[in-house]
Amino acid sequence: MCDFDHEDLAALEHDEWVLDTPLVRDFVSHVRAIVARAASPTEALSEIDPRFRELLRDDTWLPAEYQRDAPQSGMGGGIGQWLLFRAADRSLALFSLVVPPGSMTPVHDHLAWGIVGLYRGNQNEEFYRPGAGRLELVRRRPLHAGDYYTLLPPRDDVHRVRTTSATTSVSIHLLANDTGCVLRHTYDEVTGEARPFRSGYVNAACE
Ligand SMILES: [Fe+2]
Repeated sequence: MCDFDHEDLAALEHDEWVLDTPLVRDFVSHVRAIVARAASPTEALSEIDPRFRELLRDDTWLPAEYQRDAPQSGMGGGIGQWLLFRAADRSLALFSLVVPPGSMTPVHDHLAWGIVGLYRGNQNEEFYRPGAGRLELVRRRPLHAGDYYTLLPPRDDVHRVRTTSATTSVSIHLLANDTGCVLRHTYDEVTGEARPFRSGYVNAACE
């Protein structure tokens, strides 16, 4: 299956199970079986979809420590990116993204296919198309707990989210790279100019 480049990062010694629970192990092995046989990211995403929705509906599996904001984070705005699992070859990562009320991410890309769903709170998501000296807004929509969307570069990749609820929002991300560690981009809101960006994780190192 076609994939994106992880070459700027050395492989880890082993898979990293930060949240090592039967549910996370079961979900990841389910995803890996799908990825191994899927002919394309689109096909993989549609097969992953039902189990991912179950994760979003289940409010018991994600400990409070991965639903906390992070004042010193690489994303800014107190936004916490908490690693839950990543593959040794950096081809798959599961993490939570915690965005305090009123905060928003920069406009950014991911450089890998994936699925993102809201676990708690409310967000607005905005997808953009960079190019020709500007950043074109493609769509904006409100997200409630249980709502989700797919990322499929290069078309559906550049976006931002902001929390619109009075409480912190928590979203669950499954991405086909080590998203916190890959060198990706933020985009200038006016000119669309791309700048190198590595978000990191609150609870895991990249090297
Ligand atoms: Fe994102």
